[in-house]
Amino acid sequence: MAEQPVSNLYGAKAPAVPGGSADKGRSQLFTRKPLELLLEEMRGENRLRRVLGPVQLTALGVGAIIGAGIFVATGAAAHNVAGPALMLSYVVAGITCIFAALCYAEFASMVPVAGSAYTYAYATLGELFAWIIGWDLILEYGVSSAAVATGWSAYAQSSLSKLGINFPHVLTESPWRYDAVHGVFIRTGSYVNLPAILVVAVITYVLVKGIQESATFNATMVGIKVAAVLFVIAVGAFFIVKTNWHPFAPFGWSGLSFFGHHVAGQVDPGGKPVGMLAGAAIIFFAYIGFDSVSTHTEEAKNPQRDVPLGIIISLVLCTVLYIAVVAVLTGMVKFDQLDVNAPVSMAFKAKGLGWAEGLIATAGVAGITSVLLVMMLSGPRVFLAMARDGLLPKGIFGTVHPKFRTPWKSTMLVGLFVAVLSGIMPIDSLLHLTNIGTLLAFVIVCAAVLIMRRKYPDTPRPFRCPWVPVVPVMGILSCLLLMFSLPTENWWRLFLWLLLGFVIYFMYGRNHSVMKHYLESKG
Ligand code: ALA
Repeated sequence: MAEQPVSNLYGAKAPAVPGGSADKGRSQLFTRKPLELLLEEMRGENRLRRVLGPVQLTALGVGAIIGAGIFVATGAAAHNVAGPALMLSYVVAGITCIFAALCYAEFASMVPVAGSAYTYAYATLGELFAWIIGWDLILEYGVSSAAVATGWSAYAQSSLSKLGINFPHVLTESPWRYDAVHGVFIRTGSYVNLPAILVVAVITYVLVKGIQESATFNATMVGIKVAAVLFVIAVGAFFIVKTNWHPFAPFGWSGLSFFGHHVAGQVDPGGKPVGMLAGAAIIFFAYIGFDSVSTHTEEAKNPQRDVPLGIIISLVLCTVLYIAVVAVLTGMVKFDQLDVNAPVSMAFKAKGLGWAEGLIATAGVAGITSVLLVMMLSGPRVFLAMARDGLLPKGIFGTVHPKFRTPWKSTMLVGLFVAVLSGIMPIDSLLHLTNIGTLLAFVIVCAAVLIMRRKYPDTPRPFRCPWVPVVPVMGILSCLLLMFSLPTENWWRLFLWLLLGFVIYFMYGRNHSVMKHYLESKG
């Protein structure tokens, strides 16, 4: 590609593409990838099919959002951490996500290629930040898929047991579980979570076969779970007993600690923060997924318009539904009597609506399946973008199947990773680790919007995040607040993951980077 000013991404005052005057002397670590180069790559051979319209993208968003968070995590969060104030936890987490979603939407419209926040970071903050965020997204999608598969397993087992089908105990869950009362891990007596592994294997097969089939399958699942959620709200509303909402915040309103140092609010007997804010940090998980819409940009028919639309509509829709569901659940059943494994269906059972219980449990399984589908669809696409840039081996992560046009090798590899994690790790550890990784990605995306607005104010932005800098700054602050409301060990796990990422980058990615060779060829 000839050296020339880049007008699309960087606007009229643009520097030349990397290697040009603006980047002379700039270290490879902070070299940005210009949009022109990104779009050039889009014209290459190894591309995904553009088949997704606005409805399918919104369905992918809803498919990724409503799942184990609302159907499973809500029970334990209300029971142990927030009480009925979990309604407000959902508001806090929802607002945090809306700030981040507006920033995501601006980027998705500016950089309409695969890779999500990874690609945006490469185009704005440079290679090192891109690597950090890409590595972090792998954690998000990989670990959240495992958390969702574990939640799926619990719901599926409870549905199957109604039909008299029970797995042998040694194959039902992870070998260890966190005991919040004593603050230690205890043995469960099981060896492996077999149902979780089985569902991961089936989803991997579906994904290797192709995005078209996956999107259709997803749309059906989404229809079922949205109907189930509306049913819960409409029918459950008649069983609300207002006194169940008192006390409204039995664990207090905050729940903040800073690297293990208790800052505000109460702690549980295991020393973990509890309260409305701590609840928000946990059920933030329920919102994860809207960002995965942006990883499908390359498959969107009209990415500039439809990807921001898909992100924002799916998020707003889910926020409203969640708040209503939690209001109904905590109104139907006293928070300390909510079931921690299948809270939604069990609330209906508690009201003597056995028929509704079975219906909701089945819809819950369908709903959680569609989340798993989208999460496992997204991870390999981030890998794909990173491999194209030479930061990961192309032979594995950058290969698109000649017939199915899917990143089949990395899909299978992700499937293996998720199967192992979900087979042996307990859901709460997976949940916390997912949240902290995702929140970090959101912080970087919000910061990148600020940087881009300042450095390249004239760049065309088909979708503009409103009230900049207020929205990105609020996004950063609210994400950090939630990160600090998570138990401390998650910070250490996150640092460990990032450390491993740095080792891989400096041993492999840095030397194989396409940008590095591009810069060298430019002298
Ligand atoms: N938001 C997704 C769920 O709740 C991850 O399952």
